[in-house]
Amino acid sequence: MSTFTVTGGRPLRGRITVPGDKSISHRALLLAALAEGTSVVRGLSDGHDVACTRLAMEAMGATFDGDKITGGRSRLHEPGDVVDMGNSGTGIRLLAGLCASLPWLTVLTGDESIRRRPMYRVIDPLRAMGARIYGRGGGRWAPLAVAGDELHGIDIETKVASAQVKSAILLAGLGAEGDTVVRQHLATRAHTEELLVLAGAEVDVTDGGRRVHLRPSSLEPFELDVAGDPSQAAFWIVGACIVPGSDVTVEHVYVGPGRSGFLDVLRRMGADVESGEDGIRARYSPDLQGTEVGGDEVPGLIDEIPALAMAAAVAEGETVFGNVGELRIKESDRIATITEGLTAMGAAHELTNDGFIVAGSSRLNGSRVQSHGDHRIAMAFAVAALTAAGDSEIAGAECVGVSLPDFFTLLESLVER
Ligand code: S3P
Repeated sequence: MSTFTVTGGRPLRGRITVPGDKSISHRALLLAALAEGTSVVRGLSDGHDVACTRLAMEAMGATFDGDKITGGRSRLHEPGDVVDMGNSGTGIRLLAGLCASLPWLTVLTGDESIRRRPMYRVIDPLRAMGARIYGRGGGRWAPLAVAGDELHGIDIETKVASAQVKSAILLAGLGAEGDTVVRQHLATRAHTEELLVLAGAEVDVTDGGRRVHLRPSSLEPFELDVAGDPSQAAFWIVGACIVPGSDVTVEHVYVGPGRSGFLDVLRRMGADVESGEDGIRARYSPDLQGTEVGGDEVPGLIDEIPALAMAAAVAEGETVFGNVGELRIKESDRIATITEGLTAMGAAHELTNDGFIVAGSSRLNGSRVQSHGDHRIAMAFAVAALTAAGDSEIAGAECVGVSLPDFFTLLESLVER
């Protein structure tokens, strides 16, 4: 396990481009592998999660040559071994949907964290489409064995507002007999629908993004420049807002639906954040105020809560994070890991039934914070450490490789300018 030391009191300054969005990258790889011919996908995320999805599709017969990906249902075949999705929840859940209609056995597994995370949320609706999927605990946990079969379309309201669940059902629906309709009580990120349209699938999105109607479709090759990852941008933007003297512009960030809720929260807190053609510019904001985060906005900022909690810690007054129970089942139990790190840095907080409250007005102390193998926890506390007194250690720092292997190099380059 590696430890990275961050010295406090150094502003973040400069312009950066964040790597390709992780959620879009997974979907681009899956759809390019299904599309009949050669797609061109530029700017994929270079993290380990997306590398796992690429290896999975290579193991099933898709071929890669630089930015070119050649696929098609007739080219794909049974993988010769267990498919290891590493730490990637999106990867394993979306593949479960995709493989449910492919006529062979796929065994999907992942690391210790993945094998603890709930899979039933995708297995249950996929079984309702006729899928034969088995997992530990009656289908609750990976490893999952997916015995591809003939599926039928479904009209379903999902139990959780989850883009992964919606996407797994849609990917299964592509190869099913009859139409598939997925309804969610809250809109979630729309990348699968956007890329399905790009690949020529017949898909209609209505009810403010909450209802998606897909007809079984074969996909055409497509060309895509993957936009920068807003979830990565969030660390630099929050860092800039909380570290005195900072001024950062993040270029080329995805600005579609379901991903920029964290910017609305920061603006409510009084942060100096501007979005324009040039990118998103964030400057040190000494008068941040606490706010309430919750309700319908949660799916649009769930991955940014570790970063927002750092802004909450230094803001004036309380910030209430409600309706965020999903945080308990991310790469780590993020309610536990965020509050543990806040305690280490001297920031007061309390737990609630459906989330937590950060007391705010804290002067953070440099300290040792455990990542618990969660990339977003490591990154959030690393930027918070820049505003803390003295040095901080991020223990288990290597987990940043899941989404951004160069995170600490980028951090050092931004504080040296
Ligand atoms: C993702 C959806 C979200 C998010 C995850 C990526 C996706 O999860 O937290 O990091 O790419 O679809 P849920 O679908 O579980 O809400």
